[in-house]
Amino acid sequence: MEYHEPVMLDESVEGLNIRPEGIYVDVTFGGGGHSREILSCLGEKGKLIGFDQDPDAAKNAPHDERFFLVQANFRFLSRYLRYLGVEKVDGILADLGVSSHQIDLPEKGFSHRFSGPLDMRMNSGVKQTAESLLKECDKRELQEVFSKYGEVRNSKTLAERIVKARDTMPLKTTADFVEMIGDLVRGPRSRYLSMVFQALRIAVNEELKALEEVLEQSGAHLKVGGRLSVISYHSLEDRIVKNFIRSGNTSGRIDKDEYGVVQTPFKKVTKKPITPTAGEIQRNPRSRSAKLRIAERL
Ligand SMILES: C[S@@+](CC[C@H](N)C(=O)[O-])C[C@H]1O[C@@H](n2cnc3c(N)ncnc32)[C@H](O)[C@@H]1O
Repeated sequence: MEYHEPVMLDESVEGLNIRPEGIYVDVTFGGGGHSREILSCLGEKGKLIGFDQDPDAAKNAPHDERFFLVQANFRFLSRYLRYLGVEKVDGILADLGVSSHQIDLPEKGFSHRFSGPLDMRMNSGVKQTAESLLKECDKRELQEVFSKYGEVRNSKTLAERIVKARDTMPLKTTADFVEMIGDLVRGPRSRYLSMVFQALRIAVNEELKALEEVLEQSGAHLKVGGRLSVISYHSLEDRIVKNFIRSGNTSGRIDKDEYGVVQTPFKKVTKKPITPTAGEIQRNPRSRSAKLRIAERL
């Protein structure tokens, strides 16, 4: 089975406006589709640093002297660049979320379509799993996870059910969890369960926090004229990326000059986000929710 089919490959890599001698970072290496495309645009002296927190990604690392893979969360971007002696880079690419490899492996527990352990960690070295989260969070915390990260309409009822049933019903596998909440499904079953699973995954991996942290660090490392190319897959991620490009921070603060013009260290390269073509969506349905935003460091 293919590890992952890269999404908006040409558009996102073209967005980096690659200089053959430049230094680039792919913070979501995965199957390496975007990385291989970046390497094909680089000259002999170019460099590419990849990040992935999932150890499985390492097997996809190209044997190429210009490439180095960091097996870590991208929230530690600054720390690892410092360790590698790199201060400024010419471009950073992020293709957020999980890979097809991760979704399709039952033992990772990301999908309600397979029975597997309630794990959902991209990095199996961290402590919190979906199981521990479901067993340890109180009702209010669970409700917040489902409403904030999954926009699940009956999140309060769902949280109440989990808290009530978790001491008496088995809760070790994705099938146990689906069984526990099955009759609370509202609307199309697959969509409802996808949103519930998405919420848990985002919480387990602290995905939005990590995204904010890497964006905040990216500004300090991009050279003037350097590019940021980010593909997101749901509105929570896209909102963070959009606001960051607009303001240069993730706190929601908007700085304006005396004429009321917003001050930002980035220029939007495309006004609106780029979305996959109908052909790409047909070929790779998992690309359908993708949005690509490209910005240039001023
Ligand atoms: C959508 S896939 C990227 C696919 C890749 N662009 C390709 O062409 O194969 C996202 C990858 O990023 C990794 N990832 C997600 N969040 C991460 C984070 N905070 N730190 C490091 N890696 C992360 C996942 O483990 C996954 O392998």
